[in-house]
Amino acid sequence: MIIALASDHGGFDLKESIKLYLQENNIEVNDYGTYSKDSVDYTDMVIKPCEDIREGKATLGIFCCGTGIGISMAANKQKGIRAACCSDYYSAKYTRLHNDANVLCLGGRVLGAGLAEELVEVFISTEFVGGRHKTRVDKLNAMDD
Ligand code: RB5
Repeated sequence: MIIALASDHGGFDLKESIKLYLQENNIEVNDYGTYSKDSVDYTDMVIKPCEDIREGKATLGIFCCGTGIGISMAANKQKGIRAACCSDYYSAKYTRLHNDANVLCLGGRVLGAGLAEELVEVFISTEFVGGRHKTRVDKLNAMDD
């Protein structure tokens, strides 16, 4: 499993703490930036990691901005991406189970590192259930075309 990490300046600290958490748990990460607290546009930060997720070069993405919202909006405009902005455990779990979300978006100005780690852990360890939910995800994917 390879996790694609990305953030803007508002999510930089949270991305860094999630990177450490994943590395300490022997999970491979690719960090697509940003690499400092200098201001960047979250729209620019999602392009490459989304391309790599779409092409199977990364398994799942964890993207952070101040609220998690802007970067989720940008990610959801990328083909093949189903991004979910979550701040509670149930949503982070069920967006994998039912939506086959491939990107979790988190707010660096919303969440503490401890809760963020719980959300990341359940997101990356939960599998899509398929079945009737696959029909819906197929329809979501068709909206890309
Ligand atoms: C940047 O200041 C902030 O607007 C951004 O990180 C994010 O919260 C947008 O949704």
